[in-house]
Amino acid sequence: MKISYHGHSVVKIETDGKTILIDPFITGNELTDLKVEEEKPDVIILTHGHNDHVGDTVELAKKNDSLVIANHELATYLSWKLVKTHPMHIGGAYEFDFGKVKLTQAFHGSGLMTDGNEIIYMGMPAGLLLFIEGKTIYHAGDTGLFSDMKLIGERHPIDLAFLPIGDNFTMGPEDAAEAARFLKPKKVVPIHYNTFPPIKQDPHKFVDMLDVCPGQVMSAGESIEY
Ligand code: NI
Ligand code: MN
Repeated sequence: MKISYHGHSVVKIETDGKTILIDPFITGNELTDLKVEEEKPDVIILTHGHNDHVGDTVELAKKNDSLVIANHELATYLSWKLVKTHPMHIGGAYEFDFGKVKLTQAFHGSGLMTDGNEIIYMGMPAGLLLFIEGKTIYHAGDTGLFSDMKLIGERHPIDLAFLPIGDNFTMGPEDAAEAARFLKPKKVVPIHYNTFPPIKQDPHKFVDMLDVCPGQVMSAGESIEY
């Protein structure tokens, strides 16, 4: 399987026959190398309802008949946009044809901002545990540090963890380094930084702070093979 990073929180996983996109924020994401018209995801998985995570989901899903996996509220909203969805919720796991997905908690907001100056409630934000081809991948979504990350790591030994380091809206580098101590993954990749001025960070400094496992700063388009 090939796991690639595409700026902000966008992660792509290419398995034997399936392409999975996590939080496909492409339009308006100056750090991404992806183009909406070129992406053909079979599956889209969303961590929460913020616009910098839902991104281009509706257009991509409609064009490619993608299955969108998200928390119940967000999935229901997207089903009203005539997108094919699979609703889940925190603590729940489900076996899909590409692997298993489990939603974990995340401490954050999850309102979708509409053009009409409205915020629509999109349920609880989540982190994602993905069990694919014998590997366990954790995408923390947007979250602050929480001590139950210890439980997540104990219950599900993690091969690769994507952790936000931007600060301001999520964990900053110090808290993300502590998250790595809680989770004990085999490798950490920092995400959710440098996209907007308030989340400017040096990812190399963060990687240097890691003491329980190595970290890898991934540039947009870079991939890891398992
Ligand atoms: Ni968010
Ligand atoms: Mn965000």
